[in-house]
Amino acid sequence: MTENDFLPGAYQKMPENGKVTWKAPSNIALVKYWGKRPVQIPANPSISFTLDSCATTTSVAFEKKDAIDGFSFDLLFEGQPKEDFKPKIRTFLERIEKYVPFLKEYHFTIETSNSFPHSSGIASSASGMAALSMCLMDIEKQLNPIIDESLFHAKASYLARLGSGSACRSIKGNLVQWGAHENIPNSSDLYGIEYPFEINPVFKSYCDTILLVHKGQKQVSSTVGHQLMHGHPYAENRFQQAFDNLDKLKTILAEGNLEEFIKLVESEALTLHAMMMTSMPYFILMKPDTLEIINKIWEYREATKTPVCFTLDAGANVHLLYPSSVKENVLDFIKDELAEHCENGQYIHDQVGSGTIKING
Ligand code: DP6
Repeated sequence: MTENDFLPGAYQKMPENGKVTWKAPSNIALVKYWGKRPVQIPANPSISFTLDSCATTTSVAFEKKDAIDGFSFDLLFEGQPKEDFKPKIRTFLERIEKYVPFLKEYHFTIETSNSFPHSSGIASSASGMAALSMCLMDIEKQLNPIIDESLFHAKASYLARLGSGSACRSIKGNLVQWGAHENIPNSSDLYGIEYPFEINPVFKSYCDTILLVHKGQKQVSSTVGHQLMHGHPYAENRFQQAFDNLDKLKTILAEGNLEEFIKLVESEALTLHAMMMTSMPYFILMKPDTLEIINKIWEYREATKTPVCFTLDAGANVHLLYPSSVKENVLDFIKDELAEHCENGQYIHDQVGSGTIKING
């Protein structure tokens, strides 16, 4: 599919008002997206586990308005008006207007809430933009009911990408790949696809416990971090490594080869942070407790041969990844050894999930 496939046909009806609600999960990348060019085109392909319980629920109420001169919307976050989210939403609406031209015809009331505590340091832009995109696609389907399901999902992912790159991987489950790759059929820079190759059952119920090391504001945003990959001395090698890692993952994911999976995933996480540390200006998002946790994971894995590993996103929190078969032991390990490194002892259990769902009512 190309950009033109996402331009809508003529709308058949324009309801006066309505309301739609969708829940979208967060995702955790195994091969990381870091570096992009305008508009929201990734420098390298990435792949992520879709999560399950870390999610955003968004409802969009729409009401026809007379003047169609601009965007009109109210934004409520966890029941309260949220003015500081509005510029990001406005930029998003500007970027997607061409593809969903009904936007200026309505006044929207957008209400959004997260399943995870706000200020947990968990990025909500992926789940938030995915949920909002599904709501907008649902409204578009009311205006033009003939849109088929695969176009519906591809376009939701396309819109979500224009809000936040990683959001395009939160529409579907269980493993979603984004970014054109010559050996992955139907892969695209424009939207995420369900991973098209064999996936060993071990990965379909994989667990992710998010250890909340630091809940404060990040020193450097992802947006700035991505920009610092321009002119970065190691950028080209890094991008090539991501392409190669996606090739390697094909057999790892099919065979359920956890030893190789662990090597690749941990290397991706540390490479991401190595890119940050070697940017100019350089920066470090890990905290001392991030490193304490990583060392304890390595010691525990060595001593018990339990296939548990870590990954990191653009922050200090650690995602602990492990098969559901070793869950009981790993939960003891977390309680006994890792919780002390989390801010207020907090962590969140999650696992691989299956993507967005519509909420009735
Ligand atoms: C480190 O998707 O947050 O989590 O496109 O600027 O919104 P924008 O960036 P964003 O970047 C995510 C970076 C990452 C890696 C990943 O999820 O692949």
